[in-house]
Amino acid sequence: MEGVSRLIKVQFPYYLKSLPIPSTFGGFAKLSGNEWVQLVPFVVTTSVVVYLVISAILPSNSKPSKKADADWVNKTKQKEKDKVADIIQIEDLGEKTAFCRCWKSKTFPLCDGSHNQHNKETGDNVGPLVCKRANPSS
Ligand code: FES
Repeated sequence: MEGVSRLIKVQFPYYLKSLPIPSTFGGFAKLSGNEWVQLVPFVVTTSVVVYLVISAILPSNSKPSKKADADWVNKTKQKEKDKVADIIQIEDLGEKTAFCRCWKSKTFPLCDGSHNQHNKETGDNVGPLVCKRANPSS
């Protein structure tokens, strides 16, 4: 502990005093090449410390890492997108339309009956969402 104390109380202030830091911004223009080289370790170390402190304080904007494929409901549909969403006009629906909820359909978002094979193989019980007009003539 004695060595750390001496480093902080004696050697570090001595090191800071020895740096050729000018008293004005204009003084930087008058520094020699050797003086600039002398400043490099201090500037780099200070920059890294400031970056690490700011990185630790600011919230990360990065996306959460993706989990293993085994955790995904959607194994194959439009994987290049951040989110799979479809918009269908109500007027375009027929008398009865079945929408896939198992993510296995080859005609996604419409059901093609692939859920039957999935249920048979896995023992699952998924099925489509069926939208049916109450009165097709209106
Ligand atoms: S194919 Fe997916 S619910 Fe029918």
